[in-house]
Amino acid sequence: MVAAAPETALPVTAPIFSCENLSLDLGGREVLSGIGFDLKAGEVLGIIGPNGAGKTSLLEILSGRYVPKSGKVTYRGRDITRLKLFERARLGIGRTYQTPIVCDDLTVGETFKAARQAYRPYLTRFDAEYGAALVHFTASHDTPNTGLKTFERRKLLLANLLMRKPQVLLMDEPAAGLINAEIDEIDQILRMLSKEMNLSVVIVEHRIELLESIADRVIVMDAGEMIAQGELEDIIDSPAVRAAYFETH
Ligand SMILES: Nc1ncnc2c1ncn2[C@@H]1O[C@H](COP(=O)(O)OP(=O)(O)O)[C@@H](O)[C@H]1O
Ligand SMILES: [Mg+2]
Repeated sequence: MVAAAPETALPVTAPIFSCENLSLDLGGREVLSGIGFDLKAGEVLGIIGPNGAGKTSLLEILSGRYVPKSGKVTYRGRDITRLKLFERARLGIGRTYQTPIVCDDLTVGETFKAARQAYRPYLTRFDAEYGAALVHFTASHDTPNTGLKTFERRKLLLANLLMRKPQVLLMDEPAAGLINAEIDEIDQILRMLSKEMNLSVVIVEHRIELLESIADRVIVMDAGEMIAQGELEDIIDSPAVRAAYFETH
């Protein structure tokens, strides 16, 4: 039996998603330590930091692919640190990847169908249309996935996630490989999802300027640690952030 996203009432001020004191070793080396934050409903949290800072590794812990060496991940008051990726997906946590990989053997319609049938109970064509409309995905159902550009692939994957009506979206560099007009559109879509649909979003990005318009708050990571957090304009000129971005890399 697959549970839909739970409707348990939370106090308005309680975070919907949080983590504390996360650390992780990879290849015998500590790649994350002391990571923690709270995310409220409808909030967009940006995670920035130079390449190799540990942003993707953090998303792997938050989404359930890695179990941390220490620390805890909490969703709606429940400890989910040891839940697997698919279990978290069923609870309402969605995740996107740096590279938008779709199945090359399928058409757009077949991709939607596979995604609908991966959910229990099966989602309907209306759910698929709803997901597609949210991200303005317009490619026809007989289009082969191989004919989709990067932006359309991203939108197709996002549409397939959104038809499940997740409550938390974990996104790894959603603007990678996009041109400016497309980045503006992604910005608009994410703002609509958070502000009008109350979706909570963690968005990893290594280019600071892309988060200016969209993130309510940011965390800056460098070498596996949080070196600053707060509103972007307040921390952008801090010596630690300048050093991470402009001096050591
Ligand atoms: N599977 C792995 N095994 C060993 N080291 C890894 C692995 N994945 C990532 N790393 C290392 O962990 C650090 C953080 O990587 P990553 O989380 O991908 O950073 P970011 O997403 O910020 O660029 C880097 O030094 C990277 O080389
Ligand atoms: Mg990365």
